[in-house]
Amino acid sequence: MPITVLSKVSETRMHLSARRQEKPRNVVLVPTMGALHEGHAQLIRQARELAGDEGTVVVSIFVNPTQFGPNEDLDRYPRSLDRDSEVCQDCGADLIFAPGSADMYAPDHSFDARETGLSMGLCGASRSGHFPGVCLVVLKLFNIVHPTHAVFGKKDYQQLAVIRRLVRDLNVPVEIVGGETVREEDGLAMSSRNANLTDAERRDAPGIQEALQAGRARWEKLPDIAPGLLIRLVRSRLEQISSGEIDYLELVDGETLHSVHGVIEKPVVMATAMFFSKARLIDNIEFGPKAQTG
Ligand code: PAF
Repeated sequence: MPITVLSKVSETRMHLSARRQEKPRNVVLVPTMGALHEGHAQLIRQARELAGDEGTVVVSIFVNPTQFGPNEDLDRYPRSLDRDSEVCQDCGADLIFAPGSADMYAPDHSFDARETGLSMGLCGASRSGHFPGVCLVVLKLFNIVHPTHAVFGKKDYQQLAVIRRLVRDLNVPVEIVGGETVREEDGLAMSSRNANLTDAERRDAPGIQEALQAGRARWEKLPDIAPGLLIRLVRSRLEQISSGEIDYLELVDGETLHSVHGVIEKPVVMATAMFFSKARLIDNIEFGPKAQTG
């Protein structure tokens, strides 16, 4: 039987409420913007595990206009609902919620969901309306689906941290679960935006993760190294990616996302974003005492 795909908020609420009566177990939400790849597939499988046989896995597919700036790639963002439905079905999802913009936003919608700490740096510094748009749509999805758990990928480390903060600060009754970044064989983090790279850019792009790994390897050899030196090393590697341009490269505390200045004594994240001709790619690496480096 093909997977159920719903687009209206009211029918999705009714469907889930009936299902909850039948199967009053975990409801696990995987919010996505579609163009699903193996990274999403892993998140959906993780959601299936969390939900168990008796629970419900909901994948939302919505290219959310409020998180794109005026000169960003909203129009170019890849859309492929038929293929996405197959991925969801193969990975064991129960329901796809795929609204249109008009289903999600009234023409005169006037609410904002601004986080004023974690979202200010990194991607938030160069994309000022991005996180308010992400928080708004995620909060709306939580209110529509009422999940017990929601799974977000760690590739967007800052987004995961901001959503955890949203749930904490606004007392949203949902458990946030992080999913590991899935990579192509050459190390490039999977992203729907990789489809917008030219052939030459695609060949260059694995250099992003290679540069970050070089940074982590240097820290592993010299744990007392000054963060500025690490940044300089990684920056010079990234600058060798001739088809891309660095948006930012930062070394931040894994929890507060504040820049790290002294000796690295806590888990840190080195995060970067790079512009290519028609795509902006992000990636990160975690390291430091007690961080998983596998
Ligand atoms: O990570 C994404 O794909 C989006 O930011 C999200 C969480 C689905 C909100 O639109």
